[in-house]
Amino acid sequence: MPTDLAKLRKQAQTLREQLNHHSYLYHVLDDPEMADAEYDILMRRLEALEGEHPELVTLDSPTQRVGAAPSAKFAVVRHRKPMLSLANAMNADEMVEFDKRIKRLLRSDSDIEYVAEIKLDGLGIELVYEDGVLASASTRGDGENGEDVTANIRTIRSIPLRLRKPETGRIPKLLEVRGEVIFPKKAFQRLNADREARGEPVFANPRNAAAGSLRQLDPRITASRPLDVFLYAPGVIEGVEFHSQWEFLQGLRALGLRTNGESKVCRNVDAVLDYWNLLTDRRHSLDYDADGVVAKVNSYALQAQIGEVSRSPRWAIAYKFKAQQAETVVEKIDVQVGRVGSFTPVAKLRPVALAGVTISNASLHNLDEIRRKDIRENDTVLIERAGDVIPYVVRVTRQAHPRHSEFMMPRRCPECGAAAVHEEGEVGYFCVNANCPARMRESIRHFASKGCLDIEGLGDKLVTQLVERGMIKELDDVFRLTTQQLEELERMAEKSARNVLDAIEKARDTTLDRVINGLGIRHVGEHTARQLALRFKSLQALSAASEDQLVSVRDIGMEVARSVREYFDEPRNLRAVKRLEQILRIKTPSEPSGRGALRDKSFVLTGTLQTMTREEAEQSIMVVGGRVSGSVSRKTDFVVVGAEPGSKLKKANDLGVRVIDETELLKLLQE
Ligand code: IVH
Repeated sequence: MPTDLAKLRKQAQTLREQLNHHSYLYHVLDDPEMADAEYDILMRRLEALEGEHPELVTLDSPTQRVGAAPSAKFAVVRHRKPMLSLANAMNADEMVEFDKRIKRLLRSDSDIEYVAEIKLDGLGIELVYEDGVLASASTRGDGENGEDVTANIRTIRSIPLRLRKPETGRIPKLLEVRGEVIFPKKAFQRLNADREARGEPVFANPRNAAAGSLRQLDPRITASRPLDVFLYAPGVIEGVEFHSQWEFLQGLRALGLRTNGESKVCRNVDAVLDYWNLLTDRRHSLDYDADGVVAKVNSYALQAQIGEVSRSPRWAIAYKFKAQQAETVVEKIDVQVGRVGSFTPVAKLRPVALAGVTISNASLHNLDEIRRKDIRENDTVLIERAGDVIPYVVRVTRQAHPRHSEFMMPRRCPECGAAAVHEEGEVGYFCVNANCPARMRESIRHFASKGCLDIEGLGDKLVTQLVERGMIKELDDVFRLTTQQLEELERMAEKSARNVLDAIEKARDTTLDRVINGLGIRHVGEHTARQLALRFKSLQALSAASEDQLVSVRDIGMEVARSVREYFDEPRNLRAVKRLEQILRIKTPSEPSGRGALRDKSFVLTGTLQTMTREEAEQSIMVVGGRVSGSVSRKTDFVVVGAEPGSKLKKANDLGVRVIDETELLKLLQE
């Protein structure tokens, strides 16, 4: 009945308004009034309502953030007003010089008022609101032309799909607004930890993670990443007038747009320098990367008078923070032993403060790296924190006198004293002792990690203690731990002991691929573990497989096959695996759910894909039941070519295998 529908429409409208309002309190004012759980309940109510009555769905509904299907390519968007870049100042003198130049241009001696803002290290974007509704969004690109990323931008929760009506003033007819999409630092560390656990390549820094997440052809991937935004510059605006940068920033907030809370009006250039000094320290406690301070002349009238040169405004400047580097002394080069026994040299540094934390270790990766940089004990080195996370040694700045001898890899394992082996042609050195406590410690850590048994609470410190005290000698010992044993350990109260045991108990229900991955067989990561699980369906069958049988599994070559065989040929491993089989409740993974045309089709990828990483492409193919292999043969169904393809393309053509590009792949995946 129409009246009923009218009532429902009103209900949906109210829910949308409530959700948008609370989203504004949360993202823009940073002052939420509603618990997340309550918000979710409202959201689910709206989803249910719209689900039953699709005619009630509106484009600006908060349920419609991830609506669009993956696209094949980003369209090019021309910015109506070019997106300018900023000139840089290298030091305080250059800032003072900048201020003087402005005074000269304005023929004035009085103080110039600036707005000081953080220079955010993310990805420049432009949002376009037409009559208050988000109409399109694009990347900065080269400043003239960007890419249309509207579907992805819509997934960012802090970007309103519709502007708020300000208490005073109105919604502009047209609002082009520029800003920066950022990847929060904490979330970045979590993302990388997860990717590492899954054996996927990690992002070098939050900016790359932001760019990689926004430039995804499938908005669902973007939606899964916790991107955020800060808006700071006007494009073309119609229907409302702003007279200064500060008024503009306040105006954005009133319209429900997120701005950076650190921005400040500075009455002269000295105040800007104070702001820079303050932020130089403060930035480490912010949850986003900041690479400097931007000073903008506050008055728009003065900005217009000052003008611009060669794509940069003369009324603004970026004063970069100093690189996050420090000098310190390498007190010692130690060797850490990994899960498969590999040795990693680590520089033990004289503790030094860098980017807000004290650094006392830096990985030197391998012997080649040490030789290349010629790093020796007692040398003074320059260290840097990449993307605020992993410290590394840039170079030696002062050699010690007299110079220490070159670092040599130990001939014996530093933890257990067993012989070390170095395989010809490989960079690595290994401990051969399968009982090495260091190997056991790392194996257990891996076994308990996210991509494997995923035992929450069984962290590094606890594992170290358990192995040191001999409470864990084999993987399956984890499942024999008792409350009493745990309570003996440092800082372990009854309640935490209980929690750990509960988590261990929960981990008994698991899947075969996780267990295989957890065994820590050399060269077997998550992907290979899955293939092995699908093929052999039980640990028993896998442990009995011959090298020939193993090689016949997709994606498994001689090296992996040999390594699997070696693992199960070791009686001790075999015994541990048998015991695990009894203790765990292992489900066999089901075949991929592909019903469509791609089921069992084999793909080979060559060249660089533009819209997704190789891993993402492989995953998407596997999800629909296809498989990906490393080399082209007559049995290959499709060769997907990206930019600069290798010899595989030629081979495909020679063998008459069907060659498709990325666009066609996406189309096939969607079908
Ligand atoms: S204003 C007309 N403000 O820096 C001035 N830019 O080199 C145009 N950026 O591409 C930009 N934080 O992506 C401005 N608070 C801020 C900024 C900022 C970061 C980036 C922006 C731009 C680049 C300019």
